[in-house]
Amino acid sequence: EEPIRVGLMGLGTVGSGVVRLIEDHQNDLCHQTGQGVSIEKILVRDRQKERKVAVDPSLLTERPEEILKNDRIDLIVEVMGGIEPTRSYLREALENGKHVVTANKDLMALHGAELLSVAARKGCDVFYEASVAGGIPILRALAEGFSSDRITKMVGIVNGTTNYILTEMARKGTPFQSALARAQELGYAESDPTSDVEGMDAARKMAILATLGFHMDLSLDEVTVRGISGVTPEDLRFAAQLGYVLKLVGIAARNGEKVEVVVEPALLPQAHPLAAVDGVYNAVCVYGEAVGETMFYGPGAGAMPTATAVVSDLVTVVKNMRLGGNGRAIVAPYREKRVKGADE
Ligand code: NDP
Ligand code: HSE
Repeated sequence: EEPIRVGLMGLGTVGSGVVRLIEDHQNDLCHQTGQGVSIEKILVRDRQKERKVAVDPSLLTERPEEILKNDRIDLIVEVMGGIEPTRSYLREALENGKHVVTANKDLMALHGAELLSVAARKGCDVFYEASVAGGIPILRALAEGFSSDRITKMVGIVNGTTNYILTEMARKGTPFQSALARAQELGYAESDPTSDVEGMDAARKMAILATLGFHMDLSLDEVTVRGISGVTPEDLRFAAQLGYVLKLVGIAARNGEKVEVVVEPALLPQAHPLAAVDGVYNAVCVYGEAVGETMFYGPGAGAMPTATAVVSDLVTVVKNMRLGGNGRAIVAPYREKRVKGADE
């Protein structure tokens, strides 16, 4: 059978991981989907740039229309980031009947409702597991695993860069700027790391979690945010002497119809389960009325963990495509709940 043809937008940290994972796991992907996965075109800013992964140079393009208007491509994997032109590209892709997998939390937190609404109208899927907590399948867990329960609260460490910085500062006394530079080298940070350091990246992820977990639309303006740029190694040393660990924590809590979302540095007792989450690792504690407390843990950033989330979404889309228009028995988890506030 013909392989599924993918248009990849972006070949940086995550895009390179996606290419590698599709190559390395091609047989498993074939086995699971009944067909292979072939990357048809890759959109980049600069075709001449040296790449972290070997790709056939003829696949690279600087012209988005070679993907968006390409009838051979059924599915777009967007790992280029940013709001514009990405939002317009994805809208156009959906309007052209292409399914979308994205790792873009900025876009999904701000314009997810709009994209999901276009997708619903066109009968397309939009999946965005990689947008929150890298390699942890937390969106699937919320959408499927908790569908019978009522989530009351989510508390998490959802930014790998800041958790890596705080861990390096606490363990080795590494100065803030050096730890940040290392997080950038390792591919954890956003292209503008201000959004990591000032808590906006975590705020966007908490907004996505709250929207999915509480089944309601939430504006980013409603999230209270404070970052870690003022934290010093001394603060962390004093905290440790008093039996605490400082972490950038996101809290989303529901009280009746009211939702409160906060991201801020918090002193956690050393025995708290989130206090042991170090380095680039993330964790999310989800509290359900029936289930009680649960905790999800795993790498929160980096090429390969993030690529697993992206490629797993891709597999789900392919399975859905094989089931046909009305047969989305697998999961269409991230669609219906976000249509409120859509632009049409
Ligand atoms: P990078 O900066 O490493 O890669 C971005 C890629 O997109 C580059 O290949 C770049 O091209 C291309 N690109 C960017 N803008 C354009 C444009 N306007 N037109 C054409 N190509 C463009 O980013 P990451 O891989 O780190 O992140 C990608 C996305 O994944 C972001 O949304 C990020 O938030 C998200 N994410 C990242 C994680 C991580 O650990 N890094 C984890 C989870 C999500 P060129 O190479 O030519 O410059
Ligand atoms: N910059 C993000 C982080 C990437 O450090 O968590 C993963 O979303």
